[in-house]
Amino acid sequence: MYFKQINLSIPQIDYEQYIDKHVVSYGKNKLLSYYTLKNEAKDPIFALLPEKLRDKVDVLYCHSGSIEPNVVPHIDNGVNVSVNFYLETAGASTLFFKQKENAVATPTSNIDSTTISNTTGKVFELDQLDFVSAFKAYPGEAYILDTSKVHAVKGLELPSIRKFICIQTGKYTFNEFVKMFND
Ligand SMILES: [Fe+2]
Repeated sequence: MYFKQINLSIPQIDYEQYIDKHVVSYGKNKLLSYYTLKNEAKDPIFALLPEKLRDKVDVLYCHSGSIEPNVVPHIDNGVNVSVNFYLETAGASTLFFKQKENAVATPTSNIDSTTISNTTGKVFELDQLDFVSAFKAYPGEAYILDTSKVHAVKGLELPSIRKFICIQTGKYTFNEFVKMFND
């Protein structure tokens, strides 16, 4: 299992109003940006988490523009688990893959292409992967994603803006996190 839909919702407010600090932007065109949030917006999100997880995660607002219809298959950099609360989705689906034996990853820093404008870490060619599963999220829905597995985004309506709140951690695996979340 590479993802799991969860039955949790966050306040549907304009999180741009509550941005605290810019954390990082990725990609050649820096279209994928993460921000911290002011406490008044962050606290209701933290309150959804079991207490033992609260100091092990980051709550971030993600704003992702794209000039390409797809985000190429990739593994996130330093993040194993992401709980995404989708605010705007641009009609996109998220796909998960298994690496074939001897699949070779390319660090994104070695590629100069707008097709990787939304990615970090490592990217993969489709012929090195076997498709596993996919989901199409709608605004207001929440999913836990195993971002240590190869994943891609497909079918973005252009010009696209995706917005979501994410709770991220590199301290647990997906399975550990899901178990702690449910305990
Ligand atoms: Fe990703």
